[in-house]
Amino acid sequence: MAQAQGTAHWDENHSRGFLDNGRYFVPERERQIGIIADLIPQPAPGNLLVELCPGEGLLSRALLERFPDCHVLALDGSAQMLEQTRATCRDQAGRLTTAAFELAQRDWRRFAEPPHAVVSSLAIHHLDGRQKQELFADLAAALKPGGVLVVADIVRPPTASGLDIAARQWDEAVRMRALAIDGDLAAFAEFNRLGWNYFRNPDGEPIDKPSSLAEQLSWLAQAGFTEVDCAWLFAGHAIFSGRKP
Ligand SMILES: C[S@@+](CC[C@H](N)C(=O)[O-])C[C@H]1O[C@@H](n2cnc3c(N)ncnc32)[C@H](O)[C@@H]1O
Repeated sequence: MAQAQGTAHWDENHSRGFLDNGRYFVPERERQIGIIADLIPQPAPGNLLVELCPGEGLLSRALLERFPDCHVLALDGSAQMLEQTRATCRDQAGRLTTAAFELAQRDWRRFAEPPHAVVSSLAIHHLDGRQKQELFADLAAALKPGGVLVVADIVRPPTASGLDIAARQWDEAVRMRALAIDGDLAAFAEFNRLGWNYFRNPDGEPIDKPSSLAEQLSWLAQAGFTEVDCAWLFAGHAIFSGRKP
């Protein structure tokens, strides 16, 4: 995730870079989107699903398609990303609300209607450990009973060997993806040029603050979630969730 820009906050240059490269750089992107949706228990008609930091809106679109009786609220700090989300979801525009927010702030965490699910992909690692714990606790309070929080994100292996395995798997995933999409390794060369593989230089970018998977699972449990589990892990990217009792 390193952006090779050295800034501590996400800005519109980061958004542009991610819009350009996300389809190459996110490992098993379509599979991840499917698993996140699979982890949401069947909602009742009219239920609210919230996506934090939708980026270009692929997951929001998948949720709108999978759950045709639900409404999606997509919150992002980037005007460019919100515009892109609206464009990606234009066929379901009547069931999508978008709004600007700051992930680290707490004012948005009270919803007019308790959500059935809150999901987020590749964003919560921009919060530090204390902020993640606060977020999990606030979302546990905000969700409907029986609702879920599903997080897809990079997680920091606690050992050098874990970092090395994650780094090599991510390189390989991007290589394969570049070849599959373009038939050449130009996108993989760009991944290397940008220094995007967080696991090769985990302390290199102040904007990236992944916590370990074990820590985050324990923080979900401490926040009061049950059925806390990791459903998928590859190349240092994990999908984990908890259910509000
Ligand atoms: C790496 S992109 C991931 C986009 C998308 N969820 C995906 O998985 O493809 C990170 C997203 O988080 C948003 N973001 C990052 N930091 C944020 C913050 N502090 N407040 C609000 N949005 C933020 C960015 O605008 C961007 O849409």
